[in-house]
Amino acid sequence: MTLQQAKPPLPSADKRWKLVNATMRRNGYAGHALIETLHSVQDAFGFLDEISLRFVAASLDLPLSKVFGVATFYHIFMLKPKGRHTCVVCTGTACYIKGAGELLDGIQARYEVAPGETTQDDRLSVLSARCVGACGLAPAAVLDGDVLGKQTSDTLIAKLEELD
Ligand code: FES
Repeated sequence: MTLQQAKPPLPSADKRWKLVNATMRRNGYAGHALIETLHSVQDAFGFLDEISLRFVAASLDLPLSKVFGVATFYHIFMLKPKGRHTCVVCTGTACYIKGAGELLDGIQARYEVAPGETTQDDRLSVLSARCVGACGLAPAAVLDGDVLGKQTSDTLIAKLEELD
């Protein structure tokens, strides 16, 4: 029996890493789980960034170049958008039922951006994710890494207006 290599610590206390880690664990941290794992990162965060790619590479014991290669090869994967701020609106089932659509409509009406787009002044990128791990707080959004629970389009836009 070979000794299991120690796995890297989760990049932060953000609960979404647990969702990603669960996907890798379910697959025994095997390299063939790469695409499924990248999907789970995108489902939870709305995009892939360098931190997540490094974490996945170290956890699955794959070269970073391979992970970057796969992430950039498949157009279904979205790399971190260019806005100075990033707002991920959860459109998972619990949030959808509680009004995620209204949040996106409100953002669209105010800033003229749909998920996957960035405002013309590069101030804000908007994304959607399938579950950000805060279903009890539905509808939820994650603004620059902070989970905002029980949002209405008014409360969310008020937060977005405060951004520099
Ligand atoms: S469905 Fe939105 S946090 Fe889970």
